[in-house]
Amino acid sequence: MARILGGITTSHIPAIGKAIAEGQQQDPYWKPFFDGYPKVREWLGDQKPDIAIVIYNDHGLAFFLDQMPTFAIGAAHEYRNADEGWGLPALDPFPGAPEISWQIIEAMVADEFDITSCQELPVDHGFAVPMQLFWPDRKGMPRVVPVSANTVQHPIPTLKRCLDFGKSLRRAIQAIPDDLSVVVLGTGGLSHQLDGERAGFINREFDEMCMEKIVSDPEALTKISRYDLIRQAGSQGSEFLMWMMMRGALGDRVTALHRNYHIPISNTGAGTMVLQCDD
Ligand code: DHB
Ligand code: FE
Repeated sequence: MARILGGITTSHIPAIGKAIAEGQQQDPYWKPFFDGYPKVREWLGDQKPDIAIVIYNDHGLAFFLDQMPTFAIGAAHEYRNADEGWGLPALDPFPGAPEISWQIIEAMVADEFDITSCQELPVDHGFAVPMQLFWPDRKGMPRVVPVSANTVQHPIPTLKRCLDFGKSLRRAIQAIPDDLSVVVLGTGGLSHQLDGERAGFINREFDEMCMEKIVSDPEALTKISRYDLIRQAGSQGSEFLMWMMMRGALGDRVTALHRNYHIPISNTGAGTMVLQCDD
């Protein structure tokens, strides 16, 4: 039976990919951010997951406003990133696990989550930057199952729906008969707004509350309306939905082994956590 080891969260800001490409990890601006990752890599090195479920929000590379699935799952043999205009390098393709993807899609559709299945899926910075942070030299990098959710085109899913998605994903993973270990990544957030009157808006207090509650009481976070999420976290703070999806997959009890929060990285409150499953 497949086992879920835990979850990792990270912001996925494109400027991080640029800093990696230019080797700026030790620069004073970047150091407090990159210092949050050795602990994560240590945990991954110990745990050696076979599969990473990478929950991210496509920003317009694979899906645009005209066709926007609420929840999409990749079922490809490999995934390539592509130029989105941020000046990030094209990376080697990320190996997929289509037979695992299809088992998850089958189980979740049977569980009444209507999934868009993607046999081709270009992956953007929301996927690629976290993979580079966690497996910088690709040593031990697991095969991936990308999961993209809509945080861009309203109506976006509710926090409750995203937590429920994660719970269904957990059941789907646990129904896979193979002896596999799985880590679930939730990328994006925390608070940020990239445009409009509140461009540059960051809310440390709200971010810290979310980092607290995602561990101890994720159900309480489902009481936040989508309007209030945007009001308190900024328009792109909607990416916290990815963290809710990840959290739902971890079961009732988790231990937070590591946590880092740094503001600002570019325009964003950058949060990193390692949550180990207790159940
Ligand atoms: C930034 C943050 C994001 O989540 C993103 O997708 C693009 C840019 C930023 O802060 O620059
Ligand atoms: Fe983003």
